[in-house]
Amino acid sequence: MKTLFKINHYIKHSSLLFKDIYFFKSIDSTNNQCFKIKNKNNFIILAGRQSQGRGRYSRKWSSPYGNLYFSFFIHKPAIDYNEIVMLTSIALLEVLKKFNRKLYLKWPNDIIYKNKKISGILIEREFKGNILKSLVVGIGINLFTDFQKILHFKDTAISLKDITRKNIEKEIIMINFLKLFEKYYNCFSDWKKVIIKKYMKNISGKNKKIHFKIAGNLIKGKLKKVNHDGSIVIKSLRQEATYSFGEIL
Ligand code: BTN
Repeated sequence: MKTLFKINHYIKHSSLLFKDIYFFKSIDSTNNQCFKIKNKNNFIILAGRQSQGRGRYSRKWSSPYGNLYFSFFIHKPAIDYNEIVMLTSIALLEVLKKFNRKLYLKWPNDIIYKNKKISGILIEREFKGNILKSLVVGIGINLFTDFQKILHFKDTAISLKDITRKNIEKEIIMINFLKLFEKYYNCFSDWKKVIIKKYMKNISGKNKKIHFKIAGNLIKGKLKKVNHDGSIVIKSLRQEATYSFGEIL
């Protein structure tokens, strides 16, 4: 596949964080595969399609050929989970915003255009006791699928092609993302404040009424703010509370 050439080149010659990339034409899930491969280095898995692409809350991530599906494995991450959430979201948002300025984050890490999802991130962790041993960050970006034609998705999903009317190459998006991710990750203490500020600024729905689902409960309230640790504050009729997990519907 021609995309592999430039990405391989980047990994072999420019990346400080990743040493290997594995490509699969078709696989169950790039996140699953990350946990199967034994490699002492940090690595990336890229797939043409996924038969069992997974989203947050055990949902299915529709993964036909044409869109971008990749995951990367980091041993002993140097930064915390909530920092990875913010960093990954901001790096991806910045890359995609080059194609359209009207993209925002839906807390915690969806990228949306007019409230329709263009990209999702699934971050999974492995612990040894209480210690974070490794991290898998899985990214799915809707590049080409024409969601307007799919009844089930037409109100909730959108592709970059739907928005730009252009065919944008996977490798451009992936390499730009990896470069930016590494830039922020490798010097995170220098970037931390900037990332947090950008994350807070780009979250959509602030001061708007939202429906929030957590542990089977539905909360109706106003999204008041995003804290420095990435958690959100929701004010409902009964109380004002902070949440680190959950889902804005
Ligand atoms: C979500 O929005 O719920 C997260 C979706 C994450 C999908 C990506 S596609 C690549 C990687 N492999 C998976 O099985 N899931 C993630």
